[in-house]
Amino acid sequence: MIRRFRVSNFRCLENVELEFSRDFNLIFGANASGKTSLLEALAYLGRGKSFRGASTANLVRHGQAEFVLFGETERGMRSQKLGLRNSRDGLEVRVDGSGDGGVAALADALPLQVIDPEVHNLVAGGPELRRRFLDWVAFHVEHDHLEAWRRFRRALKQRNAALKARAASAAIRSWNAEFVELGEALDQSRRRALDVAIESLSEYGQGLLGTELGFEYQAGWGKDKSLEQSLEEGLERDLQQGASQQGPHRADLKIRYDERQARKLVSRGQQKLLASAMILAATETAQTALERPLLLLLDDPAAELDADSLARLLEAVAGLGCQVIATSLDKDVLSVPPDSTMFHVEHGVLSPA
Ligand SMILES: Nc1ncnc2c1ncn2[C@@H]1O[C@H](COP(=O)(O)OP(=O)(O)O)[C@@H](O)[C@H]1O
Ligand SMILES: [Mg+2]
Repeated sequence: MIRRFRVSNFRCLENVELEFSRDFNLIFGANASGKTSLLEALAYLGRGKSFRGASTANLVRHGQAEFVLFGETERGMRSQKLGLRNSRDGLEVRVDGSGDGGVAALADALPLQVIDPEVHNLVAGGPELRRRFLDWVAFHVEHDHLEAWRRFRRALKQRNAALKARAASAAIRSWNAEFVELGEALDQSRRRALDVAIESLSEYGQGLLGTELGFEYQAGWGKDKSLEQSLEEGLERDLQQGASQQGPHRADLKIRYDERQARKLVSRGQQKLLASAMILAATETAQTALERPLLLLLDDPAAELDADSLARLLEAVAGLGCQVIATSLDKDVLSVPPDSTMFHVEHGVLSPA
């Protein structure tokens, strides 16, 4: 969790300095006052990238050369200092003065999740977001997942380069061994992560949607086939496409629900509830594995939700016991805990309220 936060020249935020509580924090203000920008800056400090997918050029305040973020986190009795500077020259990261760990050190110091008005894409969009969702759980539950994932990405790049260059089959096959070893390692740790998370997933699905949810992991290659066999059988197609068509980079987490639920899930509000249930479950799973409360960013949770659904979401969030930083248009839209810390934001300037 984060206790102190400082922002310079991030979007409309020129200089902001805040102290957050360990529990529920609410930032309220009119449209375009800077609410999402503040959450985006917080998430940037824990991920080294924007949850809105924005490039550095769009994030630096107009007319400035760089943005700087600084945070002090709490981790049991310990505190860590996080610093980040981003300009056209690139990203510079510091955790307790050291830049060695890179972005992974940020993610370790400030693990967080986001529920924003785009969250329905986790349910309604393509497999990439669900893959990332599952990988996030795996990163926190399985120690070797990040390293295996990095090494796999390298092997994938090299194999794809060989395919694109239409290298001889032998040269392409020479990448298979590493591709298969790392690919299967990723597959196994994703399966274990889903096993660990599945109870929370069904619990939060039940709590928010009142229905039984099923999740089916798809590895990204032929069912009942080894990855090696799939690569062998798919070589011709891979050559045609100039890229590996099968592997853990094609995995998906299919969501199974009954017909009644399927009919409801055409609504944005229901999709948002389902996606939120998944994110709360992932947060709970990671919290248990890491044995510390995580940071949950709730950007305009009231959007798309009727009063009932919003109340259920906030109740589920409160039950998690994580640190929450939420935004809303008005102070009174959300029924927040009575001892919440409030900030009012106006034209990028925050003041305690
Ligand atoms: N790079 C930037 N420099 C300065 N202002 C920006 C930049 N990017 C976005 N803005 C402005 O920041 C303001 C706040 O946006 P946002 O945080 O999305 O508001 P809210 O979530 O409160 O509706 C908008 O008016 C937007 O035009
Ligand atoms: Mg906003």
